[in-house]
Amino acid sequence: MRCLLNGFEIKIRDCQGFPPPMLHSTILGIESSCDDTAAAVWYKGKILANITAGQKVHEIYGGVVPELASRAHQSNIIPVIDTALKTANKSLNEIDAIACTAGPGLMGSLLVGLNTAKGLAMSLNIPFVGVDHLKAHITALFIENTEPRFPLLVLLVSGGHTQIVLVESETKMEIVGRTLDDAAGEAFDKAAKLLGLGYPGGPVIDKLAAKGEDNKFLFPVSKLPALDMSFSGIKTALLYFLREQQKNNEHFREAEIENICASFQKAIVDSLMYKFNLAVKQYRPAGIGLAGGVSANSRLRNAVQNAGSQHRLPVYIPSFEFCTDNAAMIATAGAMMLKNGQHSDFALLPFSRHK
Ligand code: KG4
Ligand code: ZN
Repeated sequence: MRCLLNGFEIKIRDCQGFPPPMLHSTILGIESSCDDTAAAVWYKGKILANITAGQKVHEIYGGVVPELASRAHQSNIIPVIDTALKTANKSLNEIDAIACTAGPGLMGSLLVGLNTAKGLAMSLNIPFVGVDHLKAHITALFIENTEPRFPLLVLLVSGGHTQIVLVESETKMEIVGRTLDDAAGEAFDKAAKLLGLGYPGGPVIDKLAAKGEDNKFLFPVSKLPALDMSFSGIKTALLYFLREQQKNNEHFREAEIENICASFQKAIVDSLMYKFNLAVKQYRPAGIGLAGGVSANSRLRNAVQNAGSQHRLPVYIPSFEFCTDNAAMIATAGAMMLKNGQHSDFALLPFSRHK
């Protein structure tokens, strides 16, 4: 097949002749959308290996530096895939299909994973499927719960996105609420930067909050109309709060760090749960779920469990290893797409955001 790509005519191998769905028993998943390079091996519904290489290089900058992320992916991608295959005790020749994140994410980071996936699939003559990173976070719920009750209402909270998603089936999902500005994970990360706690902010704030009083300070809980959310105000509120307090006591931040973290975390979780509870009442799902990197947050996990008891609904929350970016969720999402007869053309391009 020939196609025109950015003005260049290129020849692309036709993917139509691949084996029918269901024959893909071993799938290699690849994830490189942000600052984690990850590879996983899915075998007949089970995850045999789930390997992630993080990137410490961003810590001192208080956020991900895109160019540094792409370079680190470049160095890590082959060793990570190699380790995943070795851990799963599989050789490349035993892989039936490759699933890889196509977006949303950082363009340079996505390109590393996607081009590696395409190159491997092309050379092995096996199907390749481009996966939506956000849908894959939700698919993480189905790694350990193979028969969830649909429709499911999921709170999807990551470093780049905060959404309430109505999940009709393993592949059919509709966004019913979202943040209009910052994501909740971004608020944790920006707060950690203001507090001098490094990057990523969520895990360290979570840890310090466990030792603090959550009602010591009051941070604003946004209440926008309907299911809209906002997390940019709370970060600004923290900035002004710190400035004001430091005027009287220059050691305020250090002295009160645990109480600040606990109070800040409470405000974020209360904001999320206020909207999520409204959505549960509105959509009356058969179950509720929590997904995305911020689903690792202990207070949020408890709050969603409590909401399940309150609404008498089953609750689905992934184990920690499937909360933050990982390739097991990509391999699983790919397996579901392949099962539905979907695969991608080698001309598939990465995308930084949803249109
Ligand atoms: O899903 P993810 O790994 O990457 C994106 O797709 O964005 O999410 C990363 C986000 C970061 O903002 C990080 O601070 C946050 O998840 N995070 C947490 C916790 N662990 C990770 N936020 C709050 N509490 C945690 N324990
Ligand atoms: Zn993610």
